[in-house]
Amino acid sequence: MLINPKFAFEKAMNYNFAIPSTNFIDAMTLCAYLEVAEEEKLPIIISIAESHIQYIDFDDAVLLAKYYINKYNVKAILHLDHGQSFDLIKKAIDSGFNSVMIDASSKPFEENVRITKEIVDYAHERGVFVESEIGHVGSGDLVGLSCSADDDNIYTTVEEALEFAKLTNTDSLAISIGTVHGNYIGEPKINFERLREIREKLSIPLVLHGGSSSGDENLNRCAKEGIDKINIYTDFIVAGQKATSSEVDYHENKKNVKNAIKDKLRHYFKVFETKEV
Ligand code: 13P
Repeated sequence: MLINPKFAFEKAMNYNFAIPSTNFIDAMTLCAYLEVAEEEKLPIIISIAESHIQYIDFDDAVLLAKYYINKYNVKAILHLDHGQSFDLIKKAIDSGFNSVMIDASSKPFEENVRITKEIVDYAHERGVFVESEIGHVGSGDLVGLSCSADDDNIYTTVEEALEFAKLTNTDSLAISIGTVHGNYIGEPKINFERLREIREKLSIPLVLHGGSSSGDENLNRCAKEGIDKINIYTDFIVAGQKATSSEVDYHENKKNVKNAIKDKLRHYFKVFETKEV
């Protein structure tokens, strides 16, 4: 069943854990996540990213997600990840998503505020939770570490986080503290000091994007020190890819891929110290 994101994140904030946000691109990835959430009795955020609509038709994704979230005995949030077009975000809200992300983080501050505020107003009138982003989390994709502790301008500042939250009335905020999306070589240098400062001053849930290959110790610390939602995707598909072999047939490969994705999620539930809600 769908659960109220506000209630789930309140728990995460009070008990210092993070809830994984997992992107699905087909029924297999979706069911893999839901089966583990059911087994472990833990909350899960089922996300479809706007950029993944090239792999799955949006209407099909909505039908699948709603069907399987009801079929499994789970507590789930249905979330639109990295929404950029107003039309798609509206469509997601009108089709029953209870959480959406508006990502205007690559825009200048004032424009990000204006766009985010418009979505927040639309969503709140319909009782839907909104995540937004300040400080842009870029793409890694094997370019190596794109950030270092000295490279201060990649990190969200405390002042902009506070101002942005106040001006937009966003329900949760994705901040940039050193991770990037996709693969990267080595581990990122997470700015835990910045996380602590933002956490101390801002009382809404905080989100970490680009969880994959960020290092278990880093992610565990993030979950314990103020991050309430961690987005993970690439590590699931990498695990699935590694589980394939030309030695076995298609059916065996399908089973192995699904199991590898499930194992990865079990692992991350532990790393994030996710608890029942
Ligand atoms: P990764 O693919 O790097 O885990 O990032 C996922 C993400 O942030 C989705 O919003």
